[in-house]
Amino acid sequence: MIITGKYPNLRMRRARKEGWSRRLVRENTLSGSDFVLPIFLTDGINKKQEIKSMKGVYRYSIDNLSGIIDRAIKNKIPMLALFPNTNKKLKDINGSEALNEDNLVSKAIIKIKKKYKNKIGIMCDVALDPYTSHGHDGLLKKNEILNDETIKILIKQSLLQAQMGCDVIAPSDMMDGRIGEIRKELDKNGHEKIQILSYAVKYSSSFYGPFRDAVGSKSSLKGNKKTYQMDYGNVNEALREVALDIKEGADMVMVKPGLPYIDIIKEVKNNFKIPVLAYQVSGEYSLLSNAINNKIINNESVYEILMSFKRAGANAIITYYADYLDKIIK
Ligand code: PBG
Repeated sequence: MIITGKYPNLRMRRARKEGWSRRLVRENTLSGSDFVLPIFLTDGINKKQEIKSMKGVYRYSIDNLSGIIDRAIKNKIPMLALFPNTNKKLKDINGSEALNEDNLVSKAIIKIKKKYKNKIGIMCDVALDPYTSHGHDGLLKKNEILNDETIKILIKQSLLQAQMGCDVIAPSDMMDGRIGEIRKELDKNGHEKIQILSYAVKYSSSFYGPFRDAVGSKSSLKGNKKTYQMDYGNVNEALREVALDIKEGADMVMVKPGLPYIDIIKEVKNNFKIPVLAYQVSGEYSLLSNAINNKIINNESVYEILMSFKRAGANAIITYYADYLDKIIK
């Protein structure tokens, strides 16, 4: 601890007296470059559907993405994350729509890359849950989520996304060993420049509820995801997960959810010095927005929470508020 003086010679309040002075000594800041914007995709033409459990967040049809992406680029947001709401009729037990060259994610990547080139990066989840009839992230057999068999499909899903022009592949299912396998196959197929963002630390959380509503997997989800997502009592396990994924080739890692796991963000950053992304998930968004809409707390609470991620050491924050930066960062 560095002690620089004592009262009355030292008065900490001197630095806080005026706005300019507070700005001068501020240790962390937020700007558009600190955010990743999630976008939910849906079928159809000229669609913009509000998600019931996430007021202010919408699903867009692919022809209707210009407004939200133009805003993101204007705000210097570096990357989009695409999530499909797959038509129920296309879902099956093996999530085969994930490998359809003409699925929502494929079509969106092609369209966005054609129009915006490299003005903004695209990240895509690699997992089967938006595509399976049972809502799980992997293949389901006799009540078990299969690990190795699922990886074979995840590799194909990654290769398809890479081929369509995705910049950052983000395996999000918490299966063992998939980062290494995906890296190997990407490289073998000439995609050695594509980055991997591993959802290395993803807890089995109640805060994903509204997201499952957004991608339409909620009503179909059988049971829970506790056999693959992490137990929220654990810290050491998170560090082991990150260490493994770095060894397997992850370029960046994610901690998810965000605020309830702020301690984990800091631990990961301090231990590994690797780019860390925090995901402020759907339930966190809804909780906060409801409190703001009901005038229980004010708008600045969003800024305050987002700043906590920066303080903890996150390089960027994936948040549904990324489409509201004009209101948040003034
Ligand atoms: C899918 C996935 C989930 C989220 C991102 N990717 C849900 C889940 O694991 O059930 C949650 C994001 C959010 O809640 O905002 N593997």
